[in-house]
Order: sequence, then C-alpha cells, then structure tokens
Amino acid sequence: MSRRSLSLWFPLLLLLLLPPTPSVLLADPGVPSPVNPCCYYPCQNQGVCVRFGLDNYQCDCTRTGYSGPNCTIPEIWTWLRNSLRPSPSFTHFLLTHGYWLWEFVNATFIREILMRLVLTVRSNLIPSPPTYNSAHDYISWESFSNVSYYTRILPSVPKDCPTPMGTKGKKQLPDVQLLAQQLLLRREFIPAPQGTNILFAFFAQHFTHQFFKTSGKMGPGFTKALGHGVDLGHIYGDNLERQYHLRLFKDGKLKYQVLDGEVYPPSVEQASVLMRYPPGVPPERQMAVGQEVFGLLPGLMLFSTIWLREHNRVCDLLKEEHPTWDDEQLFQTTRLILIGETIKIVIEEYVQHLSGYFLQLKFDPELLFRAQFQYRNRIAMEFNHLYHWHPLMPNSFQVGSQEYSYEQFLFNTSMLVDYGVEALVDAFSRQRAGRIGGGRNFDYHVLHVAVDVIKESREMRLQPFNEYRKRFGLKPYTSFQELTGEKEMAAELEELYGDIDALEFYPGLLLEKCQPNSIFGEMMTCPLCSPWLLKRCIYKVPEPWHGCHFLDSIFPSSACDLGFNSHWIKYQAAFQETLKIRIHQVLCVLQHVASH
Ligand code: HEM
Ligand SMILES: *[C@@H]1O[C@H](CO)[C@@H](O)[C@H](O)[C@H]1NC(C)=O
Ligand SMILES: *[C@@H]1O[C@H](CO)[C@@H](O)[C@H](O)[C@H]1NC(C)=O
Ligand SMILES: *[C@@H]1O[C@H](CO)[C@@H](O)[C@H](O)[C@H]1NC(C)=O
Ligand SMILES: *[C@@H]1O[C@H](CO)[C@@H](O)[C@H](O)[C@H]1NC(C)=O
Repeated sequence: MSRRSLSLWFPLLLLLLLPPTPSVLLADPGVPSPVNPCCYYPCQNQGVCVRFGLDNYQCDCTRTGYSGPNCTIPEIWTWLRNSLRPSPSFTHFLLTHGYWLWEFVNATFIREILMRLVLTVRSNLIPSPPTYNSAHDYISWESFSNVSYYTRILPSVPKDCPTPMGTKGKKQLPDVQLLAQQLLLRREFIPAPQGTNILFAFFAQHFTHQFFKTSGKMGPGFTKALGHGVDLGHIYGDNLERQYHLRLFKDGKLKYQVLDGEVYPPSVEQASVLMRYPPGVPPERQMAVGQEVFGLLPGLMLFSTIWLREHNRVCDLLKEEHPTWDDEQLFQTTRLILIGETIKIVIEEYVQHLSGYFLQLKFDPELLFRAQFQYRNRIAMEFNHLYHWHPLMPNSFQVGSQEYSYEQFLFNTSMLVDYGVEALVDAFSRQRAGRIGGGRNFDYHVLHVAVDVIKESREMRLQPFNEYRKRFGLKPYTSFQELTGEKEMAAELEELYGDIDALEFYPGLLLEKCQPNSIFGEMMTCPLCSPWLLKRCIYKVPEPWHGCHFLDSIFPSSACDLGFNSHWIKYQAAFQETLKIRIHQVLCVLQHVASH
C-alpha cells in the first residue's frame, strides 16, 4: 500500500474501529425526569458544564487553572497567583487614592507599564475568539463565523430547568412593569458624583451606537453593526451603499449643508438614506448621518455634526500634504485618522473620567505591539445590556435660560441649528447627568427602555447576576442587603425574586450599591466595564496604520518613534478649532463639572 492510499484509508479504518454508539435510553414515563444538572451551575472558575447521558454532567476545566469535578481545586500556579493577586476592590482603592503617588507615576515610565497591565491582565476575562451566541450554548463554527449574532459571555439558562433562572427563585419572574416602577423609576433626580454632565451622556450614546445596533428584522440576539467595534459606522454608515450616499466624492469629503453660515449634515433630500423619524417629518427637515436613529436627540446630531466637520477638515489637511491622492484615498485615510481620534478620546477622556483613577490612562497602539494581545473583537449581548445607561438622562433639558421637556427635546429637528454647535455643547456641559447605579433613577420617559431590556434578557435566557459576578472573578452576593447596601429596596427585591441567586443581570447591575464616589457599582465598574471597554476599543485598526508606514506616508517628516500621539496632538488643536469653542469645553467637557 502506498503512503498516499494509507492516508486515505486511515480515517476509514478508524471509523470501523470505533465502538458502536450506545443506544439511547428512553426515560421511564412513570418517573419524573431528573433535573438537568447544569441548572445548578455547578462548574466554577469559568469551567463549562457539559451534559453526559441523561442526568450526568461534567465540568470542562480546560485552561481554567482548576481541576476536580466542579473545577474548584486550584493548580499550584493558580493558587500562588490567587494568593498574590490583590482583590478587585483593593486595586480600585489603590487606583483612586494616594494622589501624590500617582502624580509621580503619571510622570514616569511606570505609567506605560501600568497601562499595559491594565490592557492585558484582565483581558482574558473576555473570550477571544468569541464563544456562544443566542442560538448556540456551546462552541460552534456557526457562532464563530456568523457575525450577525452578538456573542454571549455565558451560555443561556437551559430550557428544561425547574425555575426561569435555574433552580433558585420563584417559578415565575417578577412582573417587569412592577419591578421597573418599584425599583428603577426615579423619585427624585439623583445627580452623578464627580460632576458627570449630559454631554458625556450623549457622547456615550453616540459612541456606543456604532456597535450596539440590535437588528429589528432578525430580532434580539442579532446586530446590524457587523464591524463589531470602533469602525465609525455611526458616521459612515454600516454598509457601503449608505456610505456612498453620504459621500461627496470630492476630496474625500462627506456631503454637508450650510445653514446660518455653519456646516451641518446633509438633509435626507440631499443624501437619500433612511433615517428614523416620526411620520410626517419631511425629508428636507431630516438630517442624514451614518446611524439611522440619531435623529432622536439633538445631542446625537450634535456629535454627528462635530465629527462631520472633523472629517472634512482632516480631508483638507491631507489634500494639502498629498495633492496626488484621489478621493478614495483621502476618504479612507481620513476615516482611519478619525478612528484613532475616537479611541484616543474614549480612553484618555471618557474611560479616564468613568474610572475615577488617578493613573493617567494612555492610548498608544505601540504599547501592545510586543505584548500578547487578542485584537479580535465581537460585541457581546451582555455588553449591550449593561450599557443601557438611561439613568444618565435628566428630568428635562436646560439650554440657556430655557427648559425643554422630553416632548420638546426628542426628535426636535430645529434645536441644533437654532442654537448652533457651540451653544449646545456649552449647555450640555453645564447640566449634570443622573447617577447610573444605585437604583431608582430612570426618568419616566425612558423607563420603557429598561422594561424592554429586561424582557429581552428573559427571552434570551440570560443567566443570573450572581453567575456573572463569578464569571468576572467577583464573589456572588449572599443577600439582597449585601447587594443594595440598604434595607428598603432589598426587602422589595426579596419579595419579588425570593432568592439572591435568582436576581437577573440587568436589575442587578442597576441596583448594586455604588462604589464610593462612583457613578455605579462594582460589577459595572472595574472588572467588567473597563476591560470590556478597553478591549472593545483597542482592537486592531486596519493594517497600514499598525506599522509606521502609514504614519510616514501621511507625515513624511515624522519619525516612527513619535507614534500616533504626536499626530493626535497636531490634530487635537485643529479638532478644537473645528468645534470653535474654548479648549476647556472641548476635551475637558467630558470631565467638566456641571455645577459644583
Ligand atoms: C433621552 C435619551 C434616550 C432615549 C429617549 C433613549 C431611547 C432608547 C430606545 C427607545 C431604545 C430602543 C430600545 C427598545 O427597543 O426599547 C434605546 C436603546 C438603547 N439605548 Fe437609549 N435612549 C436614550 C439615551 C441613552 C443613553 C444616554 C445611553 C448610554 C449609553 C443609551 C444606551 C442605549 C443602548 C445601549 C441601547 C440598545 C441599542 C441597541 O441594541 O440597538 N441610551 N434607547
Ligand atoms: C459539584 O456541584 C454540585 C452541584 O452544585 C454539588 O452537588 C456537588 O456536591 C459538587 N461536587 C463537589 C465534588 O464539590
Ligand atoms: C494623573 O492623571 C490624571 C489624568 O490626567 C489626572 O486626573 C490625575 O489628577 C493625575 N494624578 C495625579 C496624582 O497627578
Ligand atoms: C447567520 O445566522 C442567521 C440565523 O440563523 C441567518 O439568517 C443568517 O443568514 C446567517 N448569516 C450568514 C452570513 O450565514
Ligand atoms: C424644538 O426646539 C426649539 C428650540 O430650539 C423650540 O422652539 C421648539 O418648540 C422645539 N420643537 C418642538 C416640536 O417642541
């Protein structure tokens, strides 16, 4: 037999040698079928519950650093690492205390080392390549390759469990309306600590809606934002056709219109793309931008306008330096520059503000060129849910001396142009946003969004809050009082859910007691949100930019070792010029204290 035919035969031989598959045992109809053991969530430390036979399970502890039937026995290295590693709350304490120490750190190379640590150490909390999705609670090719799905960090609650959350809690989850009214609805506006303003809130909403675009057609579990990250689809559209409608096809620029002598996004008449406005708004009153829902709020159109102006301004700069480049090259290069600017702002201003850290965060792609880091990105449904930060929204909107109700503010097509970019940035940076965590801070106009997200999480069978705590290396709560840090809401929760282990993911996030001087609780803050945010942001930007060639080709005079930052600085100044407002309000806006 030649070697070639042997290699052909070998798989066949194997097949023949394999034992016959055991015949399936049929359950005795007289005996109640046994509870699916995975409903107890037996596997700890990120072990995976796999069913065997009819009522058996095994925990797959591969690469968890643990062994034993429930992945609870640490290997020696795991044990050592655990005993040396500071707890999340201690790390948080360190990063938010000792000003003088951080002043020193901020000014030295230690800052870079720590930043690299921030980026790499906890990034293994998010699986990459992605794991599950709403249709597959196990590893599959489909969930790896079909990017229409959001990924899932934890598989869903098995369908055959005794209670909706597994084995704990009541047979029925609490009525959503009742839950929302009792525990999420705002009584009195609770301001965010650290002076977070509503410009920050609109920035958050604008930024995240490039990768949170749940598909109405395909249903929950599916996304329209197939880029799964910071691709600026909210500026350029999530598909090529939309992009083409928005482009001017001259000098790389986007279409625009001039109103009262200022540049704004074009109207739907000028760039025929679908925008979601209430019926009756004529096309010439609708502004056309990358994200179809941004007509909802003047705050979103405001940022769309700022980025549109920035795009066209960078195009001008590039054309000046590269008169030979055609429209396509100018457009594509500008898009990359805007991606870089976005990530820079998000990490150094936005995440910095959210974290409350004294460590000065730094965005520099080169930090990770030598480190092991998975750039591959997939947006998770849990990430989408946790980002429903609607408590940020105030009771009404204050612009100048005028107060606007939700009815006047939502879908207001004239406000942006009436006031202009500068005045709106000024107004939004002065008004304090609401605290996200700690409960009871949803304005009544956005309460239905909380109701919808809880309904969706039930349909999608998201695991209990405590399972997510464990998944992210935090201790599960043992009582509702420990969760909320008070008695009243805890008692109501007890009555609604019956068991802390049956508490749902989203309510848990919003009702968890806030960390000291922080806008939300532990689960949303350090272990969950930051690695998620950071990892979601710093994913590999398209090739040319990764190396120095790209920078050199735009800025022939620049040396590689200057990195991206120096260019950012160059653009940063111009960016502020685009905004035509004082520096303190532009890049410090996100941190700007609304009212002392
Ligand atoms: C007045 C302000 C706001 C209004 C009226 C509003 C309204 C809505 C509505 C109607 C939805 C659709 C959800 C559903 O089907 O029920 C939604 C989704 C969402 N909102 Fe808001 N929202 C506001 C502000 C914010 C802010 C400040 C954030 C913070 C980041 C935010 C984050 C989200 C997210 C992540 C989604 C899910 C998007 C998706 O999966 O497609 N929203 N919002
Ligand atoms: C593993 O977990 C199951 C379910 O929680 C429990 O009944 C069992 O005693 C555990 N086994 C060990 C060895 O800890
Ligand atoms: C370090 O930098 C951050 C961000 O710029 C700043 O907020 C913080 O005050 C600085 N910390 C110290 C101790 O200088
Ligand atoms: C992804 O999965 C959905 C649901 O099964 C399906 O409708 C869609 O065609 C799939 N997409 C691709 C590219 O296969
Ligand atoms: C929209 O805002 C303007 C202020 O810029 C206000 O005069 C107008 O009444 C608002 N429109 C609606 C429908 O409330």
